[in-house]
Amino acid sequence: MPAPTLNGQDPMIAVANLRKSFRSGDRTVEALRGVTCTIDRGRCAFVVGPSGSGKSTLLYLLGALDTPTSGSIRVDGLDLGSMSESQANAYRRDQVGFIFQSFNLIANLTAVENVLIPFFPLGVTAEHRARAIHLLEQVGLGHRLDHRPRALSGGEQQRVAIARALVKQPKLLLADEPTGELDSRTGDEIYRILRRLQAERQTTLVVVTHDRRFITPNDQVLEIQDGQLVADLPVQPDSSLAKTR
Ligand SMILES: Nc1ncnc2c1ncn2[C@@H]1O[C@H](COP(=O)(O)OP(=O)(O)OP(=O)(O)O)[C@@H](O)[C@H]1O
Ligand SMILES: [Mg+2]
Repeated sequence: MPAPTLNGQDPMIAVANLRKSFRSGDRTVEALRGVTCTIDRGRCAFVVGPSGSGKSTLLYLLGALDTPTSGSIRVDGLDLGSMSESQANAYRRDQVGFIFQSFNLIANLTAVENVLIPFFPLGVTAEHRARAIHLLEQVGLGHRLDHRPRALSGGEQQRVAIARALVKQPKLLLADEPTGELDSRTGDEIYRILRRLQAERQTTLVVVTHDRRFITPNDQVLEIQDGQLVADLPVQPDSSLAKTR
């Protein structure tokens, strides 16, 4: 049974005893060493911690882009560990938007085409295309629709990657350092877009960041060190840190 949360509802995300090891040569790297947490629906949860602590690994597992060594993950009632291959594909395709640490745009496609990538397997409709153009306009790239990535700045490429993550209107958005390579003004803009999405669609956001200035009082902060959750804090209005739940 998923753990109930403070507001009594089932959480959007329930992670229990999550472990992930990687083999590299004759060494085993324990990237996650027993992480347990819940994230409420419509919440913005920030994952913070030092480089190499396991933040991206956690995000990949939440997005079913990789499988855990042990432990369980439930997202919106779905047990990711017991999904068939086709259920996993449907989950990744329909329910999750992913903004990667590197933008992962395809060089020979235009901005609009890059946003439409999630629809390629099943076919792009006129409605999809209109939605992609609208999203690019919303992120301030209405004048860059037909530019290829090399003709876009880093911030513009990241905004294309964000539009691509949003085009499916996912109920869960996973973002790995979405503003890592951006100047602060563009970073502010990206967070305005993410917050609007959260407010308008009740999207649940899980965002890895090194930059705590975007964290607000209603957010959850999950701090990871060396593969373990060392703090799970609701932020208080008067400070950036608060007591443990
Ligand atoms: N595919 C892999 N094979 C082997 N080791 C891996 C693999 N992916 C991650 N690791 C190791 O697992 C640990 C956690 O990596 P992870 O990418 O999750 O860190 P991170 O917290 O996202 O770091 P950063 O802030 O630098 O992005 C690191 O020691 C990393 O080297
Ligand atoms: Mg990372």
